[in-house]
Amino acid sequence: MARGAGADVLERVLQSRAAPEAATLIGSGKVEELAASVKATEADLVIFDRELTPTQQRNLERALDTKVVDRTQLILDIFARRARTREGQLQVECAQLNYLLPRLAGRGIEMSRLGGGIGTRGPGETQLETDRRRIFRRLRKIEQDLERVRAGRSVHRRQRESIPIATVALVGYTNAGKSTLFNRLTGAGVLADDRLFATLDPTVRAILLPSHRKALLSDTVGFIRNLPTTLVKAFRATLEEVSEAAMVLHVVDVSSPEAVQHTAQVFKVLHEIGAASIPHLMVLNKTDLVPDSGGESDALVRRIAGQAEGEIGPRAVAISARTGAGIDALLGAIDELIPADPLARAVFRFSLRAGAEISQVHERARVVRIQYTDRYCEIEAEAPESLRHRLRRYIQR
Ligand code: GTP
Repeated sequence: MARGAGADVLERVLQSRAAPEAATLIGSGKVEELAASVKATEADLVIFDRELTPTQQRNLERALDTKVVDRTQLILDIFARRARTREGQLQVECAQLNYLLPRLAGRGIEMSRLGGGIGTRGPGETQLETDRRRIFRRLRKIEQDLERVRAGRSVHRRQRESIPIATVALVGYTNAGKSTLFNRLTGAGVLADDRLFATLDPTVRAILLPSHRKALLSDTVGFIRNLPTTLVKAFRATLEEVSEAAMVLHVVDVSSPEAVQHTAQVFKVLHEIGAASIPHLMVLNKTDLVPDSGGESDALVRRIAGQAEGEIGPRAVAISARTGAGIDALLGAIDELIPADPLARAVFRFSLRAGAEISQVHERARVVRIQYTDRYCEIEAEAPESLRHRLRRYIQR
């Protein structure tokens, strides 16, 4: 993950302890050891794969004489680099400022103590108040901007909903290959590279299915183990898009030794956001890296989806987003699973001049009953949703 943020990793240090040390998280011996290796390797940053309290962070920075960041800050940093839409940028900035606020207070006290040393207690406090006020003002502005962006987004969503095209949400653990697959399926130039979180914001593009129906494919934020709660909140709106999709494409990197754990994590998040009951297709990606995983291996799917022998797991298709292998089979499977444009019975009443509309019903629907009077023509038919939508002003019931 640190590499994803552009860091060069010089050394990794592990400590297992029964209980964390209140002041520094790790024990004092470990702090000394770490300080020595920071010196030896000339590291300019120490990253903790845990959350640190503002005090712990400050104590560690002092003891190690270098900048210290925790897991949340690292993730925020990566998200900030990868945010591609206005909403994503605002969400990340909001989370960053909220993260900063309690830490600012810590530094303020430190500043005021220093100030106290030379007999001027005031400036530190004042600076802290000014900084705080500035942050609160910025947070209020961000909230307002976010409201506007969200209003715009719900207009877009309503527009999308008014056309009966199903939305397919791409989900998966970070780095599973969602952006690569999205590009492969849509031909769109969405950012895709080896770094984590290439996708922060849902991007929606149309895809054409073998049945000639269209579907909207929406790329979503990469899921990650223990996403800090501030971030889960920040991205709730983004994740809500998933829970409203007609179908979920769950991309799994089968070449990852952690595929099973990652998949379980994704299922957990889907459950949390109320998307567990949406039709689900597993996409076993990167099969080019695992030669014998080609074809739909039932055992592999069962293992990855956490299913016991004999249980029927979700449907799965093996692909390589990079080489394009299996993509046709994937499109076919989406086509079969998608509940788009379902049929329902409707009664249309047309004026006798509406010849074009009457013939559309004959072409695209199964006519059950037809009745002419001298003023109108009434047709009862099993019609697909798109036709019912287009001819909605003629529908009687
Ligand atoms: P986040 O945005 O971080 O959630 O990642 P993502 O799931 O969108 O992954 P992305 O498409 O950025 O792919 C991650 C890395 O895996 C990139 O380096 C891709 O080139 C690589 N990759 C994706 N699909 C395949 C594949 O089928 N085979 C191989 N060998 N590499 C792949």
